[in-house]
Amino acid sequence: MKKLENKIVFITGGNSGIGKACALAAAKEGATIAVADLPNSDYSQSMNEIKALGAECMFVPINVADVESVKNAITKTVEEYGRLDIALNNAGIAGTASGIHNMPEETWNKIIAINLTGQFYCVKYELQQFLNQGGGVIVNMA
Ligand SMILES: NC(=O)c1ccc[n+]([C@@H]2O[C@H](COP(=O)([O-])OP(=O)(O)OC[C@H]3O[C@@H](n4cnc5c(N)ncnc54)[C@H](O)[C@@H]3O)[C@@H](O)[C@H]2O)c1
Repeated sequence: MKKLENKIVFITGGNSGIGKACALAAAKEGATIAVADLPNSDYSQSMNEIKALGAECMFVPINVADVESVKNAITKTVEEYGRLDIALNNAGIAGTASGIHNMPEETWNKIIAINLTGQFYCVKYELQQFLNQGGGVIVNMA
């Protein structure tokens, strides 16, 4: 039996880079994947690659900096698949390289909103689902 057979895996920022690599790795292990990424994402390639591995998947639009969007994405995943077993909170941005003395306040605020507050929103509403269903696993990308 594969390691993630019958597991529902929710991955923020799952449409590219590390998140997509994790989605493909989980699909190979038999998981069902909810790829959660920005609403304007072109996700057809990711969906095709996951399906080619024989895994079930869906795209879920999310902006992790928007609490309502986070709640909706988790709700949609649970509506579709019935539960949520593993959440990989991976969405994030690098920001621009500069010293703090040169950093525009908007840059700081955007990084905090996505990389920090976004993680809080995801963990908070994932935990509520896990408490309802009796357990689950969270992995946060730093
Ligand atoms: N600590 C480190 O040294 C280090 C190094 C590399 C990456 N990372 C982190 O790992 C994660 C993945 O990085 P990556 O290299 O694969 O980057 P990437 O840019 O390839 O992927 C990030 C994904 O997050 C999505 N995303 C961005 N903002 C979002 C938002 N507000 N809501 C939902 N999705 C959003 C993007 O659309 C993209 O698909 C990021 O959080 C990044 O900060 C950390």
